[in-house]
Amino acid sequence: MISAKTAVKVVNHPLVQELLTKIRDHRTPSQEFRLRAGQMARHLFYEAMADLHTREVSIETPVAPTKGIALTDYVVLAPVLRAGLILAEAAQKILPAARIYHVGLRRDESTLEAISYYAKLPQTLPSESRVYVLDPMLATGGSAVAAIDLFAKLKVDSIHLVCFVASPEGIAKVHSKYPNVKITTAAVDERLNSQGYIVPGLGDAGDRIFGT
Ligand code: PRP
Ligand code: URA
Repeated sequence: MISAKTAVKVVNHPLVQELLTKIRDHRTPSQEFRLRAGQMARHLFYEAMADLHTREVSIETPVAPTKGIALTDYVVLAPVLRAGLILAEAAQKILPAARIYHVGLRRDESTLEAISYYAKLPQTLPSESRVYVLDPMLATGGSAVAAIDLFAKLKVDSIHLVCFVASPEGIAKVHSKYPNVKITTAAVDERLNSQGYIVPGLGDAGDRIFGT
């Protein structure tokens, strides 16, 4: 069993950290935010998906026969609307065959509760599915837990959360209910403020991505 402590992977690669710095900066306009966030998302996926399962295949190059690999996992992407769309777009470029199930959650800004407004999931998924819940911000953890709940009901083997910035409170909330859920993030920040925003964070991810 993976312990909650080892289940958090912080990607400290300098390219990721430079991109994170750009998107944290309040002067970065929406158009550039989207571009840099998309680039960062790709790096995070390479890390998050490093343990995908493979099988050996035989191929021939123009020069000689050789062995290679093919991916064998049934990959499911679950972007949490709206902000998770930026991650889904990047993941889909890397893995065009992945299935995408959108999860609509809105955080009530006074109670900080996650409110569900859309979820169109299948009745079942292959048990060996690898589900990636995508949400740039893990703040109180309410949205992440609500999204994970939907897939945990389908009894899939592996659920993984990919985000840009996580708070210690959000990680603790996810792991108190789902200790086996892996989290890949570019940063674990200091804390939440009284409005439930991550400090230092990057502000409202959805608003910054979509320029609203
Ligand atoms: C933001 C963010 C997460 C959620 C995180 O979404 O994208 O989904 O808040 O907060 P939590 O961990 O406290 O639940 P928001 O509800 O603002 O919706 P949006 O993406 O449509 O802007
Ligand atoms: N949602 C965001 O977009 N940012 C935060 O810091 C917290 C919740």
